[in-house]
Amino acid sequence: MMNDLPRRKLVELVRAEGNALLNDPQRLYFLLQSACPECPSEVVAILGALRQGAPASLLSAAASPSVPWSNVTSSWGQRLQEQERMPPEAEFSRRIALVIGGGSGIGREVVLLLAKAGANVVVADLDAATAKAAADEACTLGSREAFAHTSVDLGSSESLAQAVRFTVQHFGGIDAVVNTAALYPVPGDNGELSDGLWSKTFLINVTGNYLLARETEWVFRDQGLPSSMVLTSSANALVPKKGSEAYDISKTALNHLVRELAIKLSPQVRVNGIAPATVVAGSTMFPRDRVIQSLQKYKIEFAESESTEELRSKLANFYAQRTLTKRPILPQDCAQAIVWLAGDKGAKTTGHIIPVDGGLTEAFLR
Ligand SMILES: NC(=O)c1ccc[n+]([C@@H]2O[C@H](COP(=O)([O-])OP(=O)(O)OC[C@H]3O[C@@H](n4cnc5c(N)ncnc54)[C@H](O)[C@@H]3O)[C@@H](O)[C@H]2O)c1
Repeated sequence: MMNDLPRRKLVELVRAEGNALLNDPQRLYFLLQSACPECPSEVVAILGALRQGAPASLLSAAASPSVPWSNVTSSWGQRLQEQERMPPEAEFSRRIALVIGGGSGIGREVVLLLAKAGANVVVADLDAATAKAAADEACTLGSREAFAHTSVDLGSSESLAQAVRFTVQHFGGIDAVVNTAALYPVPGDNGELSDGLWSKTFLINVTGNYLLARETEWVFRDQGLPSSMVLTSSANALVPKKGSEAYDISKTALNHLVRELAIKLSPQVRVNGIAPATVVAGSTMFPRDRVIQSLQKYKIEFAESESTEELRSKLANFYAQRTLTKRPILPQDCAQAIVWLAGDKGAKTTGHIIPVDGGLTEAFLR
Protein backbone atom coordinates (compact mmCIF):
# COMPACT_ATOMS: atom_id res chain seq x y z
CA MET A 1 0.00 0.00 0.00
CA MET A 2 1.48 3.32 -1.14
CA ASN A 3 2.06 5.82 1.67
CA ASP A 4 1.08 9.28 0.43
CA LEU A 5 2.78 11.21 3.24
CA PRO A 6 5.92 12.10 1.20
CA ARG A 7 3.72 13.31 -1.68
CA ARG A 8 1.68 15.54 0.63
CA LYS A 9 4.89 16.80 2.23
CA LEU A 10 6.22 17.68 -1.24
CA VAL A 11 3.17 19.83 -1.98
CA GLU A 12 3.52 21.54 1.39
CA LEU A 13 7.23 22.22 0.84
CA VAL A 14 6.79 23.61 -2.66
CA ARG A 15 4.04 25.91 -1.39
CA ALA A 16 6.27 27.14 1.41
CA GLU A 17 9.59 27.39 -0.42
CA GLY A 18 8.76 27.73 -4.09
CA ASN A 19 9.94 25.81 -7.13
CA ALA A 20 13.68 26.18 -6.55
CA LEU A 21 13.45 23.27 -4.13
CA LEU A 22 12.68 20.93 -7.02
CA ASN A 23 16.19 21.49 -8.37
CA ASP A 24 17.87 20.40 -5.16
CA PRO A 25 17.34 16.61 -4.98
CA GLN A 26 19.72 16.18 -2.07
CA ARG A 27 17.77 18.54 0.20
CA LEU A 28 14.44 17.29 -1.12
CA TYR A 29 15.45 13.72 -0.32
CA PHE A 30 16.44 14.74 3.18
CA LEU A 31 13.16 16.60 3.82
CA LEU A 32 10.88 13.90 2.40
CA GLN A 33 12.79 11.09 4.08
CA SER A 34 12.62 12.93 7.41
CA ALA A 35 8.86 13.35 6.98
CA CYS A 36 8.41 9.63 6.39
CA PRO A 37 11.51 7.60 7.38
CA GLU A 38 9.70 4.31 6.79
CA CYS A 39 8.90 4.93 3.12
CA PRO A 40 12.13 5.20 1.05
CA SER A 41 10.36 3.66 -1.95
CA GLU A 42 7.78 6.46 -2.16
CA VAL A 43 10.53 9.09 -1.78
CA VAL A 44 12.59 7.56 -4.59
CA ALA A 45 9.45 7.37 -6.77
CA ILE A 46 8.89 11.10 -6.32
CA LEU A 47 12.52 11.95 -7.05
CA GLY A 48 12.50 9.67 -10.11
CA ALA A 49 9.40 11.40 -11.43
CA LEU A 50 10.95 14.82 -10.86
CA ARG A 51 14.13 13.80 -12.65
CA GLN A 52 12.11 12.56 -15.60
CA GLY A 53 10.71 16.05 -16.04
CA ALA A 54 7.34 14.72 -17.22
CA PRO A 55 5.98 12.90 -14.21
CA ALA A 56 2.79 11.58 -15.79
CA SER A 57 2.67 8.52 -13.59
CA LEU A 58 3.12 10.53 -10.43
CA LEU A 59 0.55 13.10 -11.47
CA SER A 60 -2.12 10.52 -12.18
CA ALA A 61 -1.34 8.82 -8.88
CA ALA A 62 -1.66 12.21 -7.25
CA ALA A 63 -5.09 13.01 -8.66
CA SER A 64 -6.70 13.13 -5.28
CA PRO A 65 -9.25 15.93 -4.85
CA SER A 66 -7.95 16.63 -1.37
CA VAL A 67 -4.43 17.47 -2.54
CA PRO A 68 -3.83 20.64 -4.55
CA TRP A 69 -1.14 19.82 -7.10
CA SER A 70 -1.38 22.95 -9.17
CA ASN A 71 1.78 24.55 -7.75
CA VAL A 72 3.83 21.47 -8.33
CA THR A 73 2.49 20.70 -11.80
CA SER A 74 2.95 24.22 -13.09
CA SER A 75 6.56 24.26 -11.92
CA TRP A 76 7.22 20.91 -13.61
CA GLY A 77 5.71 22.30 -16.81
CA GLN A 78 8.01 25.28 -16.55
CA ARG A 79 11.06 23.10 -15.98
CA LEU A 80 10.23 21.00 -19.01
CA GLN A 81 9.89 24.06 -21.21
CA GLU A 82 13.20 25.38 -19.91
CA GLN A 83 14.89 22.07 -20.66
CA GLU A 84 13.54 22.06 -24.20
CA ARG A 85 15.03 25.50 -24.84
CA MET A 86 18.49 24.47 -23.56
CA PRO A 87 21.30 23.32 -25.89
CA PRO A 88 21.78 19.52 -26.06
CA GLU A 89 23.19 18.14 -22.86
CA ALA A 90 26.19 15.83 -22.42
CA GLU A 91 25.36 12.12 -22.63
CA PHE A 92 25.22 11.62 -18.85
CA SER A 93 23.92 15.05 -17.76
CA ARG A 94 21.44 14.70 -14.90
CA ARG A 95 22.34 10.98 -14.69
CA ILE A 96 23.56 9.36 -11.51
CA ALA A 97 26.13 6.56 -11.39
CA LEU A 98 27.48 4.41 -8.59
CA VAL A 99 30.91 2.95 -9.43
CA ILE A 100 32.11 0.14 -7.16
CA GLY A 101 35.87 -0.41 -7.47
CA GLY A 102 36.16 3.19 -8.67
CA GLY A 103 39.36 3.87 -6.71
CA SER A 104 41.78 2.14 -9.08
CA GLY A 105 42.45 0.74 -12.56
CA ILE A 106 39.44 0.29 -14.84
CA GLY A 107 36.94 1.63 -12.26
CA ARG A 108 38.90 4.85 -11.84
CA GLU A 109 38.90 5.37 -15.61
CA VAL A 110 35.12 4.79 -15.66
CA VAL A 111 34.73 7.53 -13.05
CA LEU A 112 36.81 9.97 -15.10
CA LEU A 113 34.99 9.17 -18.35
CA LEU A 114 31.61 9.58 -16.67
CA ALA A 115 32.79 12.90 -15.22
CA LYS A 116 33.70 14.12 -18.72
CA ALA A 117 30.28 12.98 -19.94
CA GLY A 118 28.46 15.11 -17.33
CA ALA A 119 27.37 12.45 -14.82
CA ASN A 120 26.90 12.72 -11.07
CA VAL A 121 29.06 9.94 -9.63
CA VAL A 122 29.53 8.19 -6.32
CA VAL A 123 32.96 6.56 -6.24
CA ALA A 124 32.86 3.54 -3.92
CA ASP A 125 35.78 1.30 -3.04
CA LEU A 126 37.03 -0.97 -0.27
CA ASP A 127 39.98 1.41 -0.14
CA ALA A 128 38.35 4.66 0.99
CA ALA A 129 41.48 6.73 0.32
CA THR A 130 41.63 5.78 -3.36
CA ALA A 131 37.87 6.39 -3.70
CA LYS A 132 38.41 9.90 -2.37
CA ALA A 133 41.41 10.47 -4.67
CA ALA A 134 39.41 9.40 -7.74
CA ALA A 135 36.46 11.60 -6.73
CA ASP A 136 38.83 14.56 -6.20
CA GLU A 137 40.33 13.97 -9.64
CA ALA A 138 36.85 13.82 -11.17
CA CYS A 139 36.07 17.21 -9.58
CA THR A 140 38.71 18.75 -11.84
CA LEU A 141 36.67 17.59 -14.86
CA GLY A 142 33.19 18.58 -13.70
CA SER A 143 31.56 20.53 -10.90
CA ARG A 144 32.56 19.65 -7.31
CA GLU A 145 28.93 18.92 -6.33
CA ALA A 146 28.72 16.18 -8.96
CA PHE A 147 31.05 13.77 -7.13
CA ALA A 148 31.01 11.98 -3.82
CA HIS A 149 32.85 8.99 -2.42
CA THR A 150 32.24 6.25 0.12
CA SER A 151 33.86 3.06 1.28
CA VAL A 152 32.11 -0.19 0.42
CA ASP A 153 32.72 -3.91 0.71
CA LEU A 154 31.33 -5.84 -2.23
CA GLY A 155 31.23 -8.93 -0.04
CA SER A 156 28.69 -7.45 2.39
CA SER A 157 25.03 -6.82 1.64
CA GLU A 158 24.80 -4.27 4.52
CA SER A 159 27.74 -2.33 3.13
CA LEU A 160 26.27 -2.38 -0.39
CA ALA A 161 22.86 -1.27 0.92
CA GLN A 162 24.60 1.60 2.70
CA ALA A 163 26.41 2.67 -0.52
CA VAL A 164 23.11 2.58 -2.41
CA ARG A 165 21.39 4.71 0.26
CA PHE A 166 24.35 7.10 0.25
CA THR A 167 23.98 7.56 -3.53
CA VAL A 168 20.23 8.16 -3.33
CA GLN A 169 20.70 10.62 -0.46
CA HIS A 170 23.36 12.49 -2.37
CA PHE A 171 21.88 12.71 -5.84
CA GLY A 172 18.27 11.53 -5.61
CA GLY A 173 18.45 8.16 -7.39
CA ILE A 174 20.64 5.81 -9.44
CA ASP A 175 20.67 5.42 -13.24
CA ALA A 176 23.76 3.27 -13.68
CA VAL A 177 25.61 0.89 -11.40
CA VAL A 178 29.06 -0.27 -12.45
CA ASN A 179 31.16 -2.84 -10.63
CA THR A 180 34.80 -3.41 -11.48
CA ALA A 181 35.93 -4.73 -8.07
CA ALA A 182 37.05 -8.34 -7.86
CA LEU A 183 39.49 -10.61 -6.05
CA TYR A 184 42.40 -12.36 -7.77
CA PRO A 185 43.49 -14.87 -5.13
CA VAL A 186 47.13 -15.90 -4.96
CA PRO A 187 47.80 -19.59 -4.10
CA GLY A 188 50.16 -20.60 -1.30
CA ASP A 189 53.61 -22.18 -1.84
CA ASN A 190 51.97 -25.56 -2.55
CA GLY A 191 50.11 -23.99 -5.48
CA GLU A 192 46.72 -24.45 -3.79
CA LEU A 193 44.24 -21.93 -2.38
CA SER A 194 43.09 -22.32 1.21
CA ASP A 195 39.39 -23.25 1.58
CA GLY A 196 38.78 -19.77 3.01
CA LEU A 197 40.34 -17.99 0.05
CA TRP A 198 38.47 -20.18 -2.43
CA SER A 199 35.15 -19.20 -0.72
CA LYS A 200 36.10 -15.54 -0.50
CA THR A 201 36.83 -15.47 -4.24
CA PHE A 202 33.27 -16.61 -4.96
CA LEU A 203 31.84 -14.28 -2.30
CA ILE A 204 33.43 -11.22 -3.93
CA ASN A 205 33.43 -12.18 -7.62
CA VAL A 206 29.99 -13.80 -7.85
CA THR A 207 27.79 -13.33 -4.78
CA GLY A 208 28.84 -9.69 -4.33
CA ASN A 209 27.57 -8.86 -7.82
CA TYR A 210 24.28 -10.60 -7.07
CA LEU A 211 23.97 -8.72 -3.76
CA LEU A 212 24.70 -5.45 -5.54
CA ALA A 213 21.79 -6.09 -7.91
CA ARG A 214 19.55 -7.09 -5.01
CA GLU A 215 20.37 -4.00 -2.95
CA THR A 216 19.87 -1.65 -5.93
CA GLU A 217 16.72 -3.22 -7.36
CA TRP A 218 14.29 -1.23 -5.20
CA VAL A 219 15.71 2.08 -6.42
CA PHE A 220 15.49 1.04 -10.07
CA ARG A 221 11.94 -0.20 -9.59
CA ASP A 222 10.57 2.71 -7.57
CA GLN A 223 12.14 5.57 -9.49
CA GLY A 224 10.65 4.17 -12.71
CA LEU A 225 13.43 5.25 -15.11
CA PRO A 226 15.43 3.18 -17.63
CA SER A 227 18.60 2.10 -15.84
CA SER A 228 21.64 -0.08 -16.37
CA MET A 229 24.13 -2.30 -14.61
CA VAL A 230 27.57 -3.16 -15.93
CA LEU A 231 29.69 -5.87 -14.29
CA THR A 232 33.28 -6.86 -14.98
CA SER A 233 34.12 -10.38 -16.07
CA SER A 234 37.36 -11.60 -17.67
CA ALA A 235 38.65 -13.45 -20.72
CA ASN A 236 39.57 -16.12 -18.15
CA ALA A 237 35.87 -16.99 -17.93
CA LEU A 238 36.23 -18.70 -21.31
CA VAL A 239 39.87 -19.82 -21.33
CA PRO A 240 40.62 -22.72 -18.97
CA LYS A 241 44.13 -22.89 -17.53
CA LYS A 242 46.13 -24.16 -14.58
CA GLY A 243 46.68 -22.21 -11.38
CA SER A 244 43.80 -19.71 -11.42
CA GLU A 245 40.81 -22.06 -11.13
CA ALA A 246 38.84 -20.15 -8.48
CA TYR A 247 39.16 -16.81 -10.28
CA ASP A 248 38.41 -18.28 -13.72
CA ILE A 249 35.36 -20.26 -12.58
CA SER A 250 34.04 -17.28 -10.59
CA LYS A 251 34.14 -15.17 -13.76
CA THR A 252 32.36 -17.93 -15.74
CA ALA A 253 29.62 -17.84 -13.10
CA LEU A 254 29.52 -14.05 -13.34
CA ASN A 255 28.88 -14.30 -17.10
CA HIS A 256 25.79 -16.37 -16.42
CA LEU A 257 24.74 -14.06 -13.60
CA VAL A 258 24.74 -11.18 -16.13
CA ARG A 259 22.30 -13.14 -18.32
CA GLU A 260 20.08 -14.13 -15.38
CA LEU A 261 19.95 -10.57 -14.03
CA ALA A 262 19.20 -9.18 -17.49
CA ILE A 263 16.12 -11.41 -17.62
CA LYS A 264 15.09 -10.77 -14.01
CA LEU A 265 15.37 -6.98 -14.16
CA SER A 266 14.00 -6.43 -17.67
CA PRO A 267 12.51 -4.31 -19.14
CA GLN A 268 13.52 -1.45 -16.81
CA VAL A 269 17.16 -2.36 -16.20
CA ARG A 270 19.72 -3.50 -18.76
CA VAL A 271 22.48 -5.73 -17.39
CA ASN A 272 25.73 -6.32 -19.27
CA GLY A 273 29.37 -7.07 -18.65
CA ILE A 274 32.78 -6.62 -20.19
CA ALA A 275 35.52 -9.24 -20.39
CA PRO A 276 38.98 -7.69 -20.40
CA ALA A 277 42.26 -9.58 -20.74
CA THR A 278 45.53 -8.67 -19.02
CA VAL A 279 45.18 -4.96 -18.36
CA VAL A 280 48.53 -4.50 -16.68
CA ALA A 281 48.82 -0.69 -16.61
CA GLY A 282 47.33 1.00 -13.55
CA SER A 283 45.99 -2.23 -12.03
CA THR A 284 46.50 -3.15 -8.39
CA MET A 285 45.96 -6.73 -9.59
CA PHE A 286 49.51 -6.63 -11.00
CA PRO A 287 51.77 -5.74 -8.07
CA ARG A 288 55.55 -5.94 -8.68
CA ASP A 289 55.84 -9.50 -7.28
CA ARG A 290 53.16 -10.87 -9.60
CA VAL A 291 54.71 -9.06 -12.59
CA ILE A 292 58.14 -10.53 -11.79
CA GLN A 293 56.67 -14.03 -11.36
CA SER A 294 55.02 -13.72 -14.77
CA LEU A 295 58.18 -12.37 -16.43
CA GLN A 296 60.10 -15.35 -15.02
CA LYS A 297 57.37 -17.81 -16.08
CA TYR A 298 57.49 -16.55 -19.68
CA LYS A 299 61.33 -16.26 -19.66
CA ILE A 300 61.26 -12.54 -20.43
CA GLU A 301 64.55 -10.81 -19.57
CA PHE A 302 64.48 -8.09 -16.92
CA ALA A 303 66.68 -6.46 -14.28
CA GLU A 304 65.71 -5.95 -10.63
CA SER A 305 66.79 -2.32 -11.02
CA GLU A 306 63.96 -1.67 -13.51
CA SER A 307 60.97 0.27 -12.15
CA THR A 308 57.65 -1.48 -11.63
CA GLU A 309 56.15 0.50 -14.51
CA GLU A 310 58.98 -0.63 -16.83
CA LEU A 311 58.42 -4.24 -15.82
CA ARG A 312 54.66 -3.88 -16.27
CA SER A 313 55.18 -2.43 -19.71
CA LYS A 314 57.41 -5.43 -20.69
CA LEU A 315 54.74 -7.84 -19.52
CA ALA A 316 51.92 -5.90 -21.21
CA ASN A 317 53.82 -5.95 -24.50
CA PHE A 318 54.40 -9.68 -24.18
CA TYR A 319 50.69 -10.30 -23.59
CA ALA A 320 49.82 -8.00 -26.50
CA GLN A 321 51.76 -10.23 -28.90
CA ARG A 322 49.35 -13.07 -28.07
CA THR A 323 46.40 -11.05 -29.43
CA LEU A 324 45.27 -10.25 -32.96
CA THR A 325 45.69 -6.48 -32.53
CA LYS A 326 49.15 -6.73 -30.87
CA ARG A 327 48.68 -3.63 -28.70
CA PRO A 328 48.52 -3.59 -24.89
CA ILE A 329 45.02 -3.27 -23.47
CA LEU A 330 44.61 -0.17 -21.33
CA PRO A 331 42.16 0.53 -18.50
CA GLN A 332 40.75 3.32 -20.70
CA ASP A 333 39.83 0.76 -23.41
CA CYS A 334 37.77 -1.19 -20.87
CA ALA A 335 36.21 1.95 -19.39
CA GLN A 336 35.03 3.07 -22.85
CA ALA A 337 33.15 -0.21 -23.29
CA ILE A 338 31.63 0.03 -19.80
CA VAL A 339 30.44 3.60 -20.31
CA TRP A 340 28.98 2.71 -23.72
CA LEU A 341 26.99 -0.12 -22.11
CA ALA A 342 25.94 2.06 -19.15
CA GLY A 343 24.46 4.87 -21.22
CA ASP A 344 21.92 5.44 -23.96
CA LYS A 345 24.34 4.43 -26.71
CA GLY A 346 24.03 0.86 -25.45
CA ALA A 347 20.25 1.14 -24.97
CA LYS A 348 19.48 -1.90 -27.13
CA THR A 349 22.03 -4.25 -25.58
CA THR A 350 21.29 -6.38 -22.55
CA GLY A 351 22.41 -9.77 -21.24
CA HIS A 352 25.79 -9.64 -23.02
CA ILE A 353 29.46 -9.65 -22.20
CA ILE A 354 31.62 -7.56 -24.50
CA PRO A 355 35.23 -8.73 -24.84
CA VAL A 356 37.94 -6.07 -24.54
CA ASP A 357 40.83 -8.49 -25.03
CA GLY A 358 42.68 -7.25 -28.11
CA GLY A 359 41.36 -10.22 -30.07
CA LEU A 360 42.23 -13.30 -28.06
CA THR A 361 41.31 -16.24 -30.28
CA GLU A 362 41.13 -18.69 -27.35
CA ALA A 363 38.37 -16.49 -25.89
CA PHE A 364 36.26 -16.30 -29.07
CA LEU A 365 32.61 -16.92 -28.22
CA ARG A 366 31.55 -20.52 -28.50
N1 LIG B 1 43.65 -6.12 -14.85
C1 LIG B 1 43.46 -7.18 -15.60
O1 LIG B 1 44.35 -7.70 -16.25
C2 LIG B 1 42.10 -7.78 -15.74
C3 LIG B 1 41.90 -8.78 -16.70
C4 LIG B 1 40.64 -9.35 -16.80
C5 LIG B 1 39.62 -8.93 -15.97
N2 LIG B 1 39.87 -7.96 -15.05
C6 LIG B 1 38.80 -7.56 -14.17
O2 LIG B 1 38.68 -6.16 -14.24
C7 LIG B 1 38.24 -5.65 -12.98
C8 LIG B 1 39.07 -4.48 -12.55
O3 LIG B 1 40.41 -4.77 -12.63
P1 LIG B 1 41.51 -3.65 -12.36
O4 LIG B 1 42.71 -4.05 -13.11
O5 LIG B 1 40.92 -2.33 -12.57
O6 LIG B 1 41.78 -3.91 -10.80
P2 LIG B 1 42.27 -2.92 -9.67
O7 LIG B 1 42.77 -3.85 -8.61
O8 LIG B 1 43.19 -1.89 -10.18
O9 LIG B 1 40.93 -2.21 -9.18
C9 LIG B 1 39.97 -2.91 -8.44
C10 LIG B 1 39.43 -2.01 -7.34
O10 LIG B 1 38.47 -2.77 -6.61
C11 LIG B 1 38.64 -2.50 -5.23
N3 LIG B 1 38.14 -3.65 -4.45
C12 LIG B 1 38.73 -4.83 -4.25
N4 LIG B 1 37.97 -5.60 -3.45
C13 LIG B 1 36.85 -4.89 -3.16
C14 LIG B 1 35.70 -5.12 -2.37
N5 LIG B 1 35.53 -6.29 -1.71
N6 LIG B 1 34.75 -4.17 -2.29
C15 LIG B 1 34.92 -2.98 -2.93
N7 LIG B 1 36.01 -2.69 -3.68
C16 LIG B 1 36.96 -3.63 -3.79
C17 LIG B 1 40.14 -2.31 -5.06
O11 LIG B 1 40.41 -1.58 -3.87
C18 LIG B 1 40.49 -1.56 -6.32
O12 LIG B 1 40.42 -0.17 -6.14
C19 LIG B 1 38.22 -6.85 -12.04
O13 LIG B 1 36.89 -7.33 -11.98
C20 LIG B 1 39.09 -7.86 -12.72
O14 LIG B 1 38.76 -9.20 -12.38
C21 LIG B 1 41.09 -7.37 -14.90
